[in-house]
Amino acid sequence: MRRPLIVGNWKMNTTLSDAVVLANSVKRAAEDLDSVEIVLCPPFVWLVPLAENLENAPKNLTLGAQNMWFADSGAMTGEISPIMIKDLVKYVILGHSERRSHFGESNALINDKIHAAFTHGLTPIVCVGELKKLQEEKRGRGRPNRTDTKSDVNHQLEEALKGVSKEKAEKIIVAYEPVWAIGTGHAATGGYAATVIEKLRQVFAKKYSKSLSERVRILYGGSVDSKNVQEFMYQPEIDGVLAGGSSLKAKEFIAVCREAAGRQ
Ligand code: PGA
Repeated sequence: MRRPLIVGNWKMNTTLSDAVVLANSVKRAAEDLDSVEIVLCPPFVWLVPLAENLENAPKNLTLGAQNMWFADSGAMTGEISPIMIKDLVKYVILGHSERRSHFGESNALINDKIHAAFTHGLTPIVCVGELKKLQEEKRGRGRPNRTDTKSDVNHQLEEALKGVSKEKAEKIIVAYEPVWAIGTGHAATGGYAATVIEKLRQVFAKKYSKSLSERVRILYGGSVDSKNVQEFMYQPEIDGVLAGGSSLKAKEFIAVCREAAGRQ
């Protein structure tokens, strides 16, 4: 049984006081939501104060970083190393589409970062996603008529997994985030996301084993909110969500977590 994971990616948002208020609200709510794991990914500068704030938080609430560089230290102006964050966070988002497009991050660089995360005991949340809609999708919970997932998405995952041992691959969290759905208010349908995620599981099955592919947690991300989260959680293929915009409003994010946990 894969435990559902709800990740809040705050991106480049919040002041220190916003961050503390938001994290404290989620902390209070997390207590009775222990069927889901919740991860907050604030900007780097708020990791230290929030780690202190969440010291006595319920076990199902932890912190993640939004990115990191792969080397331990060195001449890398403006970058953050795994050593700097490893005592503050459990997870690190790697290969988010905004990193790929705005900062030119390649599959090879993302692969280096994944190896570095494991070296330092961090769990990577690896994002993959296609730029353009692959097909017209059918709304609702049905399957799309046709899915062409030969594109980018599988390739991004294959490249991410290069040189990653079976033992480590099992711990990776994948977030399938179609770029066209991020921040647009136009989420994919649950059926569409599940079909792509099924193909991503086949990448794990082919490279490692079927049983491993069934144990890996794969999330959906892209315009998730409290109204549509059930559509994704309802799909057996989907193990949770990565929320951006909706993770910035305490009430809304808690509603996402409650819906995901099956609590109204
Ligand atoms: P969104 O962002 O929920 O605002 O679409 C998701 C993400 O980019 O991780």
